[in-house]
Amino acid sequence: MVRALAVKLLNGLSLSLSEEIMAKVGVFFGTDTGNTRRIAKDISTALGSAIAAKPVNIRNAEVADLLKYDTLILGTPTYGEGQLPGLSTGNATESWEEFLPKLAGHDFSGKKVALYGLGNQKGYPTEFVDAMFYLYESFKQCGATLIGAWDSDGYNFKRSKAVVDKRFIGLVLDQENQKELSPARLDAWLKMLAEAWV
Ligand SMILES: Cc1cc2nc3c(=O)[nH]c(=O)nc-3n(C[C@H](O)[C@H](O)[C@H](O)COP(=O)(O)O)c2cc1C
Repeated sequence: MVRALAVKLLNGLSLSLSEEIMAKVGVFFGTDTGNTRRIAKDISTALGSAIAAKPVNIRNAEVADLLKYDTLILGTPTYGEGQLPGLSTGNATESWEEFLPKLAGHDFSGKKVALYGLGNQKGYPTEFVDAMFYLYESFKQCGATLIGAWDSDGYNFKRSKAVVDKRFIGLVLDQENQKELSPARLDAWLKMLAEAWV
């Protein structure tokens, strides 16, 4: 009886401990055709469940869900012509376009935010991954510290709002034209982030 209780207590303890550990990095994404969700899953798998929470589609999230984490990884594709994903660009569901206005007045100071963006550099060479910039701007305005800037070498485009101080403001992946490069890019970026977390 006592032993059974001890086992139960221990199980409960390990559960609450692992829940606490799982709450370290929140992963949220917007998507229309699934690419950004697949990368979110890859991120979660690479970091492991001890570090990363299960990825959540931003259309199912409230600001309070993001505020639970001290570190966030946020992903977005770009739609329309350099716009956020969402209803106005013909996406099937609400997304970052509808979420970002809800951030107004919320305090993200002390929180680290890393962005990743998906886009098509051949199809949209003058609006390449622009949507990432709108996330960058909105979270910065709320006091967040943006981490995870990424070199733009190796991409072929003319213009991108997501280039600030000569670097992308987050990881950029192009599943249409450079899919084969994505796993190594993701791996290198996550290693860089892990160093920024310690
Ligand atoms: C209608 C449409 C518009 C797009 N506009 C842009 C754009 O302006 N800039 C860009 O870099 N990529 C653009 N893309 C490419 C998408 O961002 C890319 O396909 C991305 O991987 C889609 O992500 P998802 O599968 O998560 O929705 C566009 C794609 C479509 C279908």
